[in-house]
Amino acid sequence: MKIVTVIGARPQFIKAAAVSRAMARQGLEEVLVHTGQHYDADMSDVFFEQMGIPRPQYELGVGGGRHGAMTGRQLERIEDVLLTEKPGMVLVYGDTNSTLAGALAAAKLHIGLAHVEAGLRSFNRRMPEEINRVVTDHVSNILFAPTRTARDNLSREGIAEEMIHVVGDVMLDAALFYAERARMPGWFAGDSRLSGGFVLCTIHRAENTDDPKRLRSIFAGLSASPLPVILPMHPRTKVKVAELELVPPPNVRVVDPVGYLEMAWLEKNCQIIATDSGGVQKEAYFHRKPCVVLREETEWTELVEAGCNVLAGVEEGAIAAALTRSTQGLEFAQGFYGGGDAAERVVEILAAAGTRPEPSPSRGAS
Ligand code: UD1
Ligand code: UDP
Repeated sequence: MKIVTVIGARPQFIKAAAVSRAMARQGLEEVLVHTGQHYDADMSDVFFEQMGIPRPQYELGVGGGRHGAMTGRQLERIEDVLLTEKPGMVLVYGDTNSTLAGALAAAKLHIGLAHVEAGLRSFNRRMPEEINRVVTDHVSNILFAPTRTARDNLSREGIAEEMIHVVGDVMLDAALFYAERARMPGWFAGDSRLSGGFVLCTIHRAENTDDPKRLRSIFAGLSASPLPVILPMHPRTKVKVAELELVPPPNVRVVDPVGYLEMAWLEKNCQIIATDSGGVQKEAYFHRKPCVVLREETEWTELVEAGCNVLAGVEEGAIAAALTRSTQGLEFAQGFYGGGDAAERVVEILAAAGTRPEPSPSRGAS
């Protein structure tokens, strides 16, 4: 069976790296479509190079702009690809606009849709990602839930049990596979301030970057950190910082976004992580680091319940207090995300679906 995979943003390249490798190993034919949502070399090319992801057969070049315009243009072009390629299945990841466009294109053409990272919920419908995930899950035929919490969310929304597969998290597969290759960023050794330990921070959520009060408050919280802070800055955040003429505090070293291997090294070697990223919250746990979540809610609730991650929000004092956390008493070996074989399981299920005439579109009673 031919599978068209739609990707477009940084976290999707990382997830696809694990699954595309497994597909190649199991002999499934994959056609990769890159929507172009992320397009800078350090937001896109670097992942293909470092992680050995095959070059996409289609590069749609649709990045930037408002949500509706971006999603609409992606949808139109993905539909063209699907009409040309006539795949047996479309595969999408996560919760970006590229995910939604791929999902709608498949559903409208009655092509089976599989969603990796199904069932995540923040229960905050003001987040663009929440809309993208809910819609994608409800037009999917095969839902790959990373955790039991995700499965329970889907069941509560009336999605039939037989369509849901709890496979673990493909980001754990990637973290394990590339761990050995993690490498120190070139600029690190030249900065003597960092030798006594550091905080790793990422900020890119629209709710944080697009609200000057929140962004200022995060910077104020970081300024209280007893350790220097490394902040690989997402392009969205760069634009907002420039617009607001914000000056990051002196203990914060701002760098360009780093490659996956450098990020893994920073995660492995830091003392603590502060982030509003979904993926980085989990990677903190994979690398056994306490994590300060710069949000009021999270989709990865099991990490907060286990005490590994804390929801600090963006209040200056709360961030400052949380940044003094240590690993003492934290339990990182609870296996929330499977055993590192999620991608293999995804591909086995996809391959088995290819031998059936049509994936079931039925829903359970809601
Ligand atoms: C997107 C996803 C978000 C995900 C994040 C991962 C949506 C709605 N949001 O957010 O869920 O967590 O990716 O990083 O899909 N830009 C560049 N160069 C690039 C990419 C972006 O300059 O390579 C700038 C552009 O000004 C663009 C802005 O960043 O307008 C925002 O990019 P966009 O893809 O719309 O959203 P993200 O904030 O990256
Ligand atoms: N990441 C990276 N370089 C960076 C920042 C993040 O390689 O400078 C990786 C990170 O290790 C994780 C993924 O990008 O694997 C998370 O993506 P992001 O935070 O952009 O999106 P989210 O997970 O929030 O959707």
